[in-house]
Amino acid sequence: MRDTHFRRLLLVGLTLAVGVTASPAAANAASCAPGAPGLGDRLFPLLGNGGYDVQDYELRLTYPEKDPAHSVSGDVRIAAVATQKLSRFNLDFAGGNPASIDVDGKPANFSRVGEELVITPRVALNKGRGFTVTVKGFTAVPETPDPAAPDGFTATPDGTALLGQPAAAHRLFPSNDHPADKATYTITTDVPEGWTGTASGVPTVTRTGGGRVVSTYRQAQPMATELLQVAAGDFVVRERQQVGRVRVRDVVPRRLAAQTLPMFDSEREQIAWMEQQVGPYPFDTYGSLLIDVQLGTALETQTLSVYDSTVLAAPTPVVESVMAHELAHQWYGNSVAPATWSDVWLNESHATWYELLWAEKIGAVAEHTGSPSREAFFQRVYANSDSWRAQFGPVARPKSAEQLFDLFNINVYYGGALALYALEQQLGEPKFQQLERAWASAYRGKSASTDDFIALASRTAGRDLKPFLTAWLYGTETPPMPGHPDWVTMQNPAPMTGQHLSR
Ligand code: ARG
Ligand code: ZN
Repeated sequence: MRDTHFRRLLLVGLTLAVGVTASPAAANAASCAPGAPGLGDRLFPLLGNGGYDVQDYELRLTYPEKDPAHSVSGDVRIAAVATQKLSRFNLDFAGGNPASIDVDGKPANFSRVGEELVITPRVALNKGRGFTVTVKGFTAVPETPDPAAPDGFTATPDGTALLGQPAAAHRLFPSNDHPADKATYTITTDVPEGWTGTASGVPTVTRTGGGRVVSTYRQAQPMATELLQVAAGDFVVRERQQVGRVRVRDVVPRRLAAQTLPMFDSEREQIAWMEQQVGPYPFDTYGSLLIDVQLGTALETQTLSVYDSTVLAAPTPVVESVMAHELAHQWYGNSVAPATWSDVWLNESHATWYELLWAEKIGAVAEHTGSPSREAFFQRVYANSDSWRAQFGPVARPKSAEQLFDLFNINVYYGGALALYALEQQLGEPKFQQLERAWASAYRGKSASTDDFIALASRTAGRDLKPFLTAWLYGTETPPMPGHPDWVTMQNPAPMTGQHLSR
């Protein structure tokens, strides 16, 4: 499910690809061509694939042993629509090669080039045609957690979890691994009895027999690959009382259940609070997953945010503020996903915004940020902003995504939130709140870009905010802060640390 904005980018990419391969057969190539190996994301050129649009994933994972380090095997059935006449197409995949690949039930040839599965169906797929590709018997090996790179198909003492953001979901399963192509999911885990498999979405069926437990989850609203959670191990799933129509459950290691479940007690109140601020929760269920590793990370996996032990070791008000951050992502980042990875500030700025509002609501801004008030915090961010822009690139154009924290850098989080603060100063609080709600509802279930945000902000304000927001989002220098002419940037500001850098 790709939005029109991204289709435009795709067309540019295809035009280039066709240009490069131009030959006497060019006319034919233009009508029937291989799908591009990537969607042309500025920061991850090979992520995602051209030529088709995924509608639905049916993913099945088998965990042979109660051993978090043991490799898993899987099958995935992908329903897609061809967006060009396709002679062949790719899936992103970095695990162990599959046993077979079928297209519409017929065996297809495939090969592996780097992190791409290159699939050639028996007959070319016509543009606009729906097709299914079934990949059987692929494998993936759980990875040892690395705090410098807290992503991947992660082994923990109790089982495995998925930290797919931004580009690691395809280390577990073959997919179109880019948030521009969202799809619905059915996820089935097949685990030894005594283990529990859980995933994004709501449970449908569980069958126990022959020493195995097979559980199926359905994620009915579109989801980006990077946001899939699938965890299996010695976990317990604990239901809480619903919040309206939202089912709430937490997932924690069995041996830590008694001491850790109460840490998520503020969850239900936070859901109600967010709904009041920005509108209805966009999915059917929410909750928290605890993994007992020391990555210093939390991640907004869809309907089931994940926290590690390091994050939960912080003082309660800090943990709660991080929880508000991950919950806010369900609207900003998940329901409305980024069109490209340069747009990730759209995720992190809003999540930081509600994190700070929650901290303020519970009287914990000083404890959480080291500044006495939200305004004082933003003044400090402002002081740092020029040097962060120099180091990491402008808010909406990060310089690099080579390392995880090049992309998830402090300027995307705090600099992004500062841009929202400037916008709120400019519009006034009521209009700003109207924009926040309008963004979540207009792009619900879709992928949206910085241009989309600028356009909606302008429509909401009733005037052209392009010059104002372009300066804030793409400028190498920080614009003056509306309402605070005394705020200055500093050459050598006292460095701000972020627990936020790891979230
Ligand atoms: N988006 C996450 C957050 O701010 C942090 C990203 C870190 N990525 C990861 N795979 N751990 O909540
Ligand atoms: Zn975040």
